[in-house]
Amino acid sequence: MARRAEPAAEQVRSQSLLLVRAVPPGPLSASMATSAAGPVLIVGSGLIGRSWAMLFASGGFRVKLYDIEQQQITDALENIRKDMKLLKQSGSLKGSLSAEQQLSLISGCSNIQEAVEGAMHIQECVPEDLELKKKIFAQLDGIIGDDVILSSSTSCLLPSKLFAGLVHVKQCLVAHPVNPPYYVPLVELVPHPETAPATVDRTYALMQKIGQSPVRVLKEVDGFVLNRLQYAVISEAWRLVQEGTVSPSDLDLVMSHGLGLRYAFMGPLETMHLNAEGMLSYCDRYGESMKRVLKTFGPIPEFSGATVEKVHQAMCVKVPADPEHLAARRQWREKCLMRLANLKSQMPSQ
Ligand code: NAI
Repeated sequence: MARRAEPAAEQVRSQSLLLVRAVPPGPLSASMATSAAGPVLIVGSGLIGRSWAMLFASGGFRVKLYDIEQQQITDALENIRKDMKLLKQSGSLKGSLSAEQQLSLISGCSNIQEAVEGAMHIQECVPEDLELKKKIFAQLDGIIGDDVILSSSTSCLLPSKLFAGLVHVKQCLVAHPVNPPYYVPLVELVPHPETAPATVDRTYALMQKIGQSPVRVLKEVDGFVLNRLQYAVISEAWRLVQEGTVSPSDLDLVMSHGLGLRYAFMGPLETMHLNAEGMLSYCDRYGESMKRVLKTFGPIPEFSGATVEKVHQAMCVKVPADPEHLAARRQWREKCLMRLANLKSQMPSQ
């Protein structure tokens, strides 16, 4: 590929053209070019940025991928092309457009000013670093209009820290996805105290449009909701192993062959509701024993020392902690999630 001499912007434009050429000519592709919604701008084309790009394209949105690293954009476009091919082959491609049509909606852009032009939603996906994110939001704040939504993918930075002092703070919120977002549809929407309700409503509708499952976190809290639940589970799992009550591998089995099966389809509150004659009956029957057990929970674990060694060794029996074994196991996990997503989509909703 003799592209080294090309200026960065030119290189990205030609990549985008290559993708556009991949769309088969015909009435559908012609009408798509004019009718596709968007554009949505993704800032940061790493793991999460790429996933968002695919999700928005599956919903028929034009997507611009921006990154500070030219190579990241190139890699992202190539990676997305490969992923879409595999998704098509396995029958797991989302949306009603073909893989070629979805690909044609995604282009790279290495100039932030150009990238922002006309965008109706900006999804920030740069590394989890408060100062870096604040710098990017300040930059975007200076060039965006009053209609675009400015959304962060942050896993745990609070909106009040991320968006403090921005002129367009009413248009800002966190939309936290779960990895891998293509198979795990949950998105936590977390507003800044000054975020306009319309910003949350619009993002909620947008997430639904691309097939994700948004939830409204009504006020900001450290860890949002998903990680608070996850940490509560990890915390008690750790204590049980630390106290020698159960082995690390059996602890994991309690979730993967027990609780987790129900939780793939319903949450803990509905589980309570169904495990007695309704929620009132459950609390009446089991409230006292829940409180008795909860009182025995120990302090926050240190996640270090002998216990971390013990858990690490147990995990390595199944999956040695080298890059190849970890990657293979992640691939297996993604296949399982893909099949679970297919199963869930076939289940009658009630
Ligand atoms: P990543 O490291 O894979 O990608 C970050 C991208 O941002 C890179 O391509 C990098 O070149 C680019 N970047 C760095 N500085 C930039 C700048 N100034 N302007 C534009 N682009 C810039 O990170 P990843 O995993 O995609 O995470 C992105 C965000 O998503 C983080 O806030 C993370 O906490 C959040 N998140 C990550 C999840 C995960 O499992 N990886 C899950 C849910 C949220």
